[in-house]
Amino acid sequence: MTDDQAAREQAVTDRVLASFDNAPSERYREVMRSLISHLHGFAREVRLTQEEWDAAIAFLTRVGHITDDRRQEFILLSDVLGLSMLTVGINAPASAGATESTVFGPFFVEDAPEIPLGGDIAQGAKGVPCYVEGTVRSTDGSPLPGARIDAWESDEDGFYDVQYEGEVTAGRGWLRAGENGEYRFWSVKPSAYGIPDDGPVGELLAAGGRGTMRPAHLHFKVTAPGHRTLITHVFVAGDKYLAEDVVFGVKDSLVAEFAEHDGGTAPDGSPRDGRWAHLRFDLTLAPMS
Ligand SMILES: [Fe+2]
Repeated sequence: MTDDQAAREQAVTDRVLASFDNAPSERYREVMRSLISHLHGFAREVRLTQEEWDAAIAFLTRVGHITDDRRQEFILLSDVLGLSMLTVGINAPASAGATESTVFGPFFVEDAPEIPLGGDIAQGAKGVPCYVEGTVRSTDGSPLPGARIDAWESDEDGFYDVQYEGEVTAGRGWLRAGENGEYRFWSVKPSAYGIPDDGPVGELLAAGGRGTMRPAHLHFKVTAPGHRTLITHVFVAGDKYLAEDVVFGVKDSLVAEFAEHDGGTAPDGSPRDGRWAHLRFDLTLAPMS
């Protein structure tokens, strides 16, 4: 490339950078200047062709068109590019003793039903019944009574309720921890699943020669006054996809045994006829600094 060409390209970048000089928010200025620098640097580095630019615009347009209030292709895109996990890592540095965070994912919905302590979030979701219990604590060990626990998961076919036709609500709900921070609920044992690959993110993965699978997991969002909100999953120990999660979300401390039993009596005293699973997992929140 000639010096002239390099100078012409740099002049474009400089003018765009300068166009943000009067932004009232210093943070906005900082973020946009960095975004422009990296975006232009990327285009220069790969010598972006007009056809590639067209393809990228068409791709992002498809991501937008397929997104609605039950399908979030932009979060999925962020997830498979590892941006979600990177952002989680930047914002939740391992805080001594707190449960580690992982991706939020695209399947949370705002108005999940409240269930009583010990209730059932399955609500018709297919799968082996699974009893989940533990204690919500602060990192100093004190229990957090009244903490709000949201849980959501796939059924045994690997689908979330929002992936079915109609307004099904199953495999999700929220409850409050009891007076000693204890929580317990019934659900189904989650299954490994392929992320939705019938849209633009599926095309991206196929073009990259990548898989689509996520190891089985139960999602948690836990909030308590004075504490940082915990967004995490508990992964099923032994799942064959633990090492190749398409969204890079697995952390060793989040892998736990979902012990399976045949009949007998569950921890809540209920007699069980067939197979059921049992997870014990304590949730530890970091205080707000
Ligand atoms: Fe998930």
